[in-house]
Amino acid sequence: MFTKNSIIGVIGSGAMGSGIAQVAATAAHKVIVYDNNQSSLTKSETTLQASLKKLVEKEKITADQQTFILANISFVNSLNDLAKCNLVIEAIVENLQVKKSVFSELEKLVSETCVLASNTSSLSIASIAAACTKPERVIGIHFFNPATLMPLVEIIPGIATDDAITTSCKNLIDTWGKVTVIAKDTPGFIVNRVARPFYSEALRIYEEGIADMPTIDWAMKEIAGFKMGPFELMDMIGHDVNYVVTETVWTQFYFDPKFKPALSQKRLLEAGFLGKKTGKGFYNYAADAKLPEPKKDVEIGKAIVKRILFMLINEAADALYLKVATREDIDLAMTKGVNYPKGLLKWADELGVNLIVKELTGLKDFYEEDRYRVSPLLKQNFIMKKTFY
Ligand SMILES: NC(=O)c1ccc[n+]([C@@H]2O[C@H](COP(=O)([O-])OP(=O)(O)OC[C@H]3O[C@@H](n4cnc5c(N)ncnc54)[C@H](O)[C@@H]3O)[C@@H](O)[C@H]2O)c1
Repeated sequence: MFTKNSIIGVIGSGAMGSGIAQVAATAAHKVIVYDNNQSSLTKSETTLQASLKKLVEKEKITADQQTFILANISFVNSLNDLAKCNLVIEAIVENLQVKKSVFSELEKLVSETCVLASNTSSLSIASIAAACTKPERVIGIHFFNPATLMPLVEIIPGIATDDAITTSCKNLIDTWGKVTVIAKDTPGFIVNRVARPFYSEALRIYEEGIADMPTIDWAMKEIAGFKMGPFELMDMIGHDVNYVVTETVWTQFYFDPKFKPALSQKRLLEAGFLGKKTGKGFYNYAADAKLPEPKKDVEIGKAIVKRILFMLINEAADALYLKVATREDIDLAMTKGVNYPKGLLKWADELGVNLIVKELTGLKDFYEEDRYRVSPLLKQNFIMKKTFY
């Protein structure tokens, strides 16, 4: 369905739209970027020029490639200019009503065969597609931030999406050098669902006073091998983003206690301590501030890792159980989308299901909270002595 000559439209020239446009233009497509805010368009164009210039200086691309990429992208301030696109990827504000109205307007302008995609992180594709008369051509194409660097792209067919469109989009994005996975249209798709315990269980351990933040961060990096600890990562993502994703996933799952947000993070958000970008979050980033030291007690560290990692594995198992994605795609999503050191299901096989089920059952018995319920798939594997792979 798509070829190198396919014209790609991008709506929204913010962080994500600009990155997606650069990726598509680098893959030799003509790209048309539309935004309803002229200053955002101008900023996108200047940022693109600056980042390509840097890539040339670092010898990551040649000057010819720089010229080629720039020549492939045009910035427009009328939606009508997207009329000749073969695929349009929307990356505007995360608001269902606004997205619906843009999709409905867009559908009237483009050809019958143009595919309409949304980069939404948290809205259902079904709800966006419902604004269109041809919902079968609407799909989720979810890039990660920054889109130019993060390899993962989740492809999310909605309830009405034509299978052939799903396959064409996956094949196209593969040619852009990305790693694609197919995810069911459920809250958080794969990554934003399965990753929740990385933050929430760390917050729980901290709120209970079992360990302090630097010790939890240290354990997850040094013992488990994650690139960043949960508190460092939340501070880097920003609590305005990270807390809101948690709250959205929790709300959309009808307040399932597994996904319940933490008050300690909500207070940071309320106080405006959004993390690195405001100079203060869980940690203080002032130039003269001294970062707290972890207590490097290996036994405590191992207990922290067990609790967070097993909760992550539990969520990955549940995502597989509920057919959100295949086991390969769940593992690929977590390694390529959020840099986990290993796929969680593969990791579960290495650790052994007995140990995981025993630990999670212990937490469930102790706390008597539904939050710690063991995934039926882990239980099945335990009873039948099965592995994921
Ligand atoms: N930022 C992330 O980490 C991230 C990651 C993955 C997906 N997403 C999703 O991508 C989308 C965009 O996020 P972002 O971080 O790039 O936002 P952003 O705020 O950086 O950019 C949004 C852009 O959309 C424009 N816009 C708003 N309403 C518009 C309209 N009606 N018509 C045309 N343009 C309009 C704004 O002017 C702005 O330039 C959201 O749906 C978000 O959930 C974000």
